[in-house]
Amino acid sequence: MDSQTIRILLNGEPVAITGLAPTTSLLAWLRGARGLVGTKEGCNEGDCGACTVVVGELAADPADAPRLYAVNACIRFLPTLDGKAVFTVEHLRSLAGGALHPVQQALVDCHGSQCGFCTPGFAMSLWALYEDCHVRGEAAAAPPSPARIRSAIAGNLCRCTGYRPIIEAGERMLDAPPRLLDRERLRTALLALRRDDTLAFDHEGCRFVAPRSVDELLALRSRHPAATLLAGGTDLGLWVNKGLRRLDTLIHTGEVAALRAIVPNAGGLRIGAAASLTAAFAAIVRLHPELAELWERFASPPVRNAGTLGGNVANGSPIGDSMPALIALGARVVLASVRGRRSLALEDFYLDYLKKDLAADEIIEAIELPPPAPARRLRSWKLAKRFDSDISAVCAGFALELRAGTIHAPRIAIGGMAATPRRATATEAALAGRPWDEATLAAAQRALADDFAPLDDLRASAGYRSRAAAGLLTRFFLETRPDAPLAAAQTRAFAAEDLAGGGG
Ligand SMILES: Cc1cc2nc3c(=O)[nH]c(=O)nc-3n(C[C@H](O)[C@H](O)[C@H](O)COP(=O)(O)OP(=O)(O)OC[C@H]3O[C@@H](n4cnc5c(N)ncnc54)[C@H](O)[C@@H]3O)c2cc1C
Ligand code: FES
Ligand code: FES
Repeated sequence: MDSQTIRILLNGEPVAITGLAPTTSLLAWLRGARGLVGTKEGCNEGDCGACTVVVGELAADPADAPRLYAVNACIRFLPTLDGKAVFTVEHLRSLAGGALHPVQQALVDCHGSQCGFCTPGFAMSLWALYEDCHVRGEAAAAPPSPARIRSAIAGNLCRCTGYRPIIEAGERMLDAPPRLLDRERLRTALLALRRDDTLAFDHEGCRFVAPRSVDELLALRSRHPAATLLAGGTDLGLWVNKGLRRLDTLIHTGEVAALRAIVPNAGGLRIGAAASLTAAFAAIVRLHPELAELWERFASPPVRNAGTLGGNVANGSPIGDSMPALIALGARVVLASVRGRRSLALEDFYLDYLKKDLAADEIIEAIELPPPAPARRLRSWKLAKRFDSDISAVCAGFALELRAGTIHAPRIAIGGMAATPRRATATEAALAGRPWDEATLAAAQRALADDFAPLDDLRASAGYRSRAAAGLLTRFFLETRPDAPLAAAQTRAFAAEDLAGGGG
């Protein structure tokens, strides 16, 4: 296969693409070059879901059925779809022999659309869920729960209809006889697109290259230290769409299978830097179920399907949501270059605002989590104005071991409180070796004030952030104290269902 030609399966048909800038978005190409205008442009920054499409990809073992997942076309650089399938809303009818697909019919029947601008995006998010329910064999047993539907459409905004009829459509879409994608046919078509060589091309002074092994990636990184590493592009897409930045050389990490692997590691986990947030969070939650709500609130399914854990850690935003929990868990980051490998405690990776201990020729190869400690108590909470898909004002990770009522090995990390996600070392010192009681809590809260000089911006004032962090420490105490600990439902002001529901 020509190493300069992007090959994708568009609505079931192979398409060869050349002569495009590497940062061309899938959305711009679908609408401009292909005339597929059902996919809408709203925000152009991954926030509204009007541009939602579904991607099909061979499973890690190609003998298994291909995976289908929703992504935002507006922040997805087209060359990263090489070898994959893209389905747009136009394809749904062909699955239903020219009639409306059951997902679309349910939206009509439940009055789930008014102006209709958001509707293709909702249809595609619901279609991904529809296929998932059928593949798991759940469709015959029961419709998806409202909570699961809400979660599937958490990245879709509707400004006029209101969400209740759309959720009802999600509950009704499985009523009709199934109209399913032929996954075996998809698998055969994707196998035909598989390449062994490296996709690499230049366009008007910009270069894109997608190495296929760690060694090839490291050699490229060493030769092009000024190049931009591109993983899922959910941060980089905004640099281009909103920051209007020109990225001269892009090295895409998504084709390096070893970088996408998640493997058990001495009782803990080793998560390849290019593993999707969806896959990484699923593995982490299996080991640490306490983190389920945090990951559910991280962005939206399309962003989590495209974005990677390595990208979040590498971006190193002070309000990034994975770092506080990872630091509380004692995560280490593995850095690799042609010179060799080194491993750092994650908190030591962050030097200053967006400044990291990462040499120009290095990449993040993996994030490693230790095994869960016995008697460990763990919580992580995100405070933001909305339940779904919002940026944190404060995000905190708390962990400690409780033995005979005494605190051991406390680890607290809070984002939104300093120029980097940071450990609260004075607070930890106030906790270590003490009984976990109200006097210790009060001392730890006083120490919190020494640990941080919080950010003061339009998202939250410094005063709010300080009080909120102290409040989260109280919540941690209430849920983990040795005497009469409270359940999560007793410490939250609103049920998640109240927050995630509501009208338009
Ligand atoms: C709508 C929306 C909602 C979001 N919500 C959240 C949220 O709730 N919480 C949150 O924390 N973030 C959120 N984000 C930010 C973003 O999704 C995450 O930071 C994501 O993890 C980035 O991963 P990526 O693979 O897309 O990174 P990319 O955009 O590909 O890259 C991000 C940075 O990491 C670098 N990089 C990537 N891989 C490596 C590597 N292996 N080694 C070294 N450097 C590397 C890139 O060069 C770049 O500087 C949101 C983004 C959007 C668009
Ligand atoms: S246009 Fe809003 S998410 Fe893409
Ligand atoms: S129907 Fe108008 S935005 Fe949803």
